[in-house]
Amino acid sequence: MILNSLKKFKFVASIFDKMLDRVKQLIGEVASFKTTNTEEVESFRIKYLGSKGILKELFSEFKNVDPASRKEFGQALNNLKKAAEEKVEALNRVLENAIEEKGIYGDLTRPSEPIELGSRHPISLVKNQIIEVFNRIGFTVSEGPEIEDDWHNFTALNLPEYHPARDMQDTFFIEQDPDILLRTHTSSVQVRYMENNEPPIRTISPGRVFRNEDISARAHCIFHQVEGLYIDTDVSFADLKQTLLYFTKEMFGKSKIRLRPSYFPFTEPSAEVDIYWGLETETDYRITKGTGWLEIMGCGMVDPNVLKNANIDPNKYSGYAFGMGIERIAMLLYQIPDIRMFYENDKRFLEQFKSVI
Ligand code: DAH
Repeated sequence: MILNSLKKFKFVASIFDKMLDRVKQLIGEVASFKTTNTEEVESFRIKYLGSKGILKELFSEFKNVDPASRKEFGQALNNLKKAAEEKVEALNRVLENAIEEKGIYGDLTRPSEPIELGSRHPISLVKNQIIEVFNRIGFTVSEGPEIEDDWHNFTALNLPEYHPARDMQDTFFIEQDPDILLRTHTSSVQVRYMENNEPPIRTISPGRVFRNEDISARAHCIFHQVEGLYIDTDVSFADLKQTLLYFTKEMFGKSKIRLRPSYFPFTEPSAEVDIYWGLETETDYRITKGTGWLEIMGCGMVDPNVLKNANIDPNKYSGYAFGMGIERIAMLLYQIPDIRMFYENDKRFLEQFKSVI
């Protein structure tokens, strides 16, 4: 009997020692545990302090411990519990601080965001290209106002009041003052430039123009033009033709043009410029209506009346002028089927011009 109880005591004592050793070892493990990962902190917490955790298990052993050793065991367990709780708290504090810092500075080690580069609008691209081509042969750029007066848009350009050709361009007038209008073409800049500059004049004037027209795939009430003006002594129609030929070669890589007689009040003689586009593809057939020819601009020798109106002596000077729609040129260059695409700001359309400088 005594032997039995001794044995039992010994047995219990050795279990107790082992358990105490384990608790001490666990306290060591808790102390050396390190992580900066939220999930690892949580699994650490569950492992030690969870409802099926190590501490729960050890506390359930409490009843098996010899009453004399319970105090020591209890203290050891409390130490372990405290160490685990403090560890979790400390690790969480570090994590929270890190998140707070990130909030201010972001993660300074992460790769930077790719910089989204925009692209130029096709109208700007083509406008710049036209400017560049004419710059190379000595033309400077000039601009004028979009809100114009009757004189610069019509009268000085040989279109007096009631002239039937005014109907060619459906005009937006400012209701309160019929003298003020939205310019219907960039030819108005010609007049302004001549009024303010002495010949020789070589200038191109890109800009926005307005016409009271129904919007369709081919026409818009707001669009862009480039006007060209060359005034000097002895300027001839041959000079005009050479300049146009140079332009079509540079712009389209096409070297065949034809000048069809036409009428504009501000030029005499006047012509419509066609380029030979070719008939190689189905698209060529469609856009040239099977002829191979495409109309790209109007031109002519500046009417002596226009020179006079702008205080330039028509007996001393002569010159040529031309005007083209930028949208039309852009549509031809990039095979854009509908003029409305320029103004919709659809990124899928605009992004296609990213690679063009
Ligand atoms: N202003 C004309 C238009 O808007 C285009 C034009 C034709 C301009 C002949 C010119 C020119 O300078 O000579 O339709």
